[in-house]
Amino acid sequence: MISLKKFDKVFFNSLIDKEKILLGENFFTVFENKTKVGIVGVVEPNFLQIIIKKEFRSKGLFEIIVNLIMEKMNLNCLSATIDKDNIASLKACKKAGFKVLSKAKLDLLRKKGFLKENQVRMIKNISEKQHKSLYSIILFLGL
Ligand SMILES: CC(C)(COP(=O)(O)OP(=O)(O)OC[C@H]1O[C@@H](n2cnc3c(N)ncnc32)[C@H](O)[C@@H]1OP(=O)(O)O)[C@@H](O)C(=O)NCCC(=O)NCCS
Repeated sequence: MISLKKFDKVFFNSLIDKEKILLGENFFTVFENKTKVGIVGVVEPNFLQIIIKKEFRSKGLFEIIVNLIMEKMNLNCLSATIDKDNIASLKACKKAGFKVLSKAKLDLLRKKGFLKENQVRMIKNISEKQHKSLYSIILFLGL
């Protein structure tokens, strides 16, 4: 069972790739049963920050964790800024239902200086209906 608990800074500092993460207020340690497997957080207004411990990657945890944090923080929409060469992150986001913004929107963000040339912005939207049914499933499973 995956759960989100109090942020553990010492654990975070032990993680490979921690420099990719911008820390903020709303951060949690991710547990798989009693084992710490990663860190997840949302930076204002709705930017995902996530890092999974090396040996727990490529097991599909990303999607579960994204759905959990959206429920926990009551978010209908989550954004991710991803380096174009971060293939694992691009693949994980796609599998979890994120969509790359249109070229016009990406160009505008780049023009305004909100996005670098080597980055893309992806967004996951869930409808009110999906949000409620996801919440029921999470309550039912006791996650
Ligand atoms: C990004 C990250 C959170 C993804 O988590 P995850 O739980 O491993 O994601 P998933 O299990 O959904 O799998 C990712 C996919 O990328 C694939 N992948 C991983 N590394 C890859 C690589 N170097 N090249 C190509 N594909 C790769 C995996 O095989 C998997 O694809 P599959 O399901 O088709 O087999 C994790 O890789 C990580 O912590 N990275 C370092 C921190 C980071 O980059 N955070 C994101 C900042 S936006």
